[in-house]
Amino acid sequence: MSDRGSFTTRLGIILATAGSAVGLGNIWRFPVETGQQGGAAFIIVYLACVLLLGIPMMTAEFAIGRRAHTDIASAYQQLAPRQPWFLTGYAGMLCVTLILGFYSVVAGWILKYALDALSGTMSFVTDSAAYFNTFTQSYYLPVVFALLFIVLTHAVIKRGIQNGIERFSKVMMPVLLVLMIALAAGSLSMSGAAEGLAFLLRPDFSKLTADVVLSALGQAFFSLSIAIGCLSTYASYFKRDVNLIKTATSVVALDTAVAILSGFIIFPAVFSVENVNPDAGPGLVFVTLPDIFGKLFGHGSFAGYVFALMFYLLLTLAALTSTISMHEEVTTFFCDRFGMSRRKAATIMTCTSMVLAMLCALSYGPLHDELVIGGYTVFESFDFVTAKFIMPLSGIVLSLFVGWRLDRELVLDELTNGGTLSLPRPVVAGFFFIIRWLAPIAIATIFINELLS
Ligand code: ALA
Repeated sequence: MSDRGSFTTRLGIILATAGSAVGLGNIWRFPVETGQQGGAAFIIVYLACVLLLGIPMMTAEFAIGRRAHTDIASAYQQLAPRQPWFLTGYAGMLCVTLILGFYSVVAGWILKYALDALSGTMSFVTDSAAYFNTFTQSYYLPVVFALLFIVLTHAVIKRGIQNGIERFSKVMMPVLLVLMIALAAGSLSMSGAAEGLAFLLRPDFSKLTADVVLSALGQAFFSLSIAIGCLSTYASYFKRDVNLIKTATSVVALDTAVAILSGFIIFPAVFSVENVNPDAGPGLVFVTLPDIFGKLFGHGSFAGYVFALMFYLLLTLAALTSTISMHEEVTTFFCDRFGMSRRKAATIMTCTSMVLAMLCALSYGPLHDELVIGGYTVFESFDFVTAKFIMPLSGIVLSLFVGWRLDRELVLDELTNGGTLSLPRPVVAGFFFIIRWLAPIAIATIFINELLS
């Protein structure tokens, strides 16, 4: 297993792992949730979730991956031989495979919007709802774009850890951050900036319900890619001297900054146009925003062209760095477990994702009423099963595994890099308290609440 590669620099590790975390969850789902859950109050709870649970859970996943130095299923088997914990590893791989199916479809829509923004077509769209519906319900276009996105993912994966994932992340993540800052600056100079900022920063605690807390926790886990196996997989490529807690803190900080910045991009723009509700739901990015760009800058204007192009390019990059990490998790499994070449392993995963993505893409068109599972389209059922079942259950098992099953000394050995790092006592005590008690109880509460609702 010596030739499986590793990340070579600390910056590469942070940017690649942040790339896994930063995705549609930050730039699409976070503003949607913030809009629907009442703004600043939701953001405060979200921040508490990422700080209190996100950092320790991410550190726990890193500890498993780096300790075992192999794919996620083998990692559980190695750390707890002949016990059923390894099923969590398989659940993680199933989860990312299903997520890749529908995520690639949304990523494909984004790629299409980015290309339309580039060609200038988007600046002239006057009915963005009709534009979106016609495209997503078409027989072949959503399939073509989803497959194209998977091919882009494959192109990075097949180059390996150092030449593919690390090199790509080191270039693309800074580009993504620069785009975000430029867009946020543009948005903050709009007429609705003050109202947008107030929506994001002035909490109305009367809106703080149990539902808001549960949504914030679910959003935090999705955004940080927790409990799906990607983080352990990336950590299996970390060198022994990497400080796991510091790395988790940097990745969480970057991921959160991107989420908040996307709020700074979207809400000032939303409040700059009359009669637009911030609670626009999932259509926010595909229907509301193109409409806003047209109204704010004027259809066919250069400023509108640049703003839209930068925005959809940003989303494309964010989605791509996440699909890469999900793809890598299963590719690594085939390489480590069966000794396959990376090219062959990646091809198997790419073909599997393509079939699932095709089914999901057609869920909006010809298969909408033809292929229905328990009342849900394929797209919806993949989303439902992963978000409502696999992710929360894997999260509970992950925290129980690191908190109770693994030897405390072994976990400490990982956190302190074999005793070479000294950690303040409260940090160690806090970590074990959260992993043993707070995390499983909090996730179980969400899970049960979702089941009953
Ligand atoms: N963490 C990834 C995202 O936010 C899945 O999109």
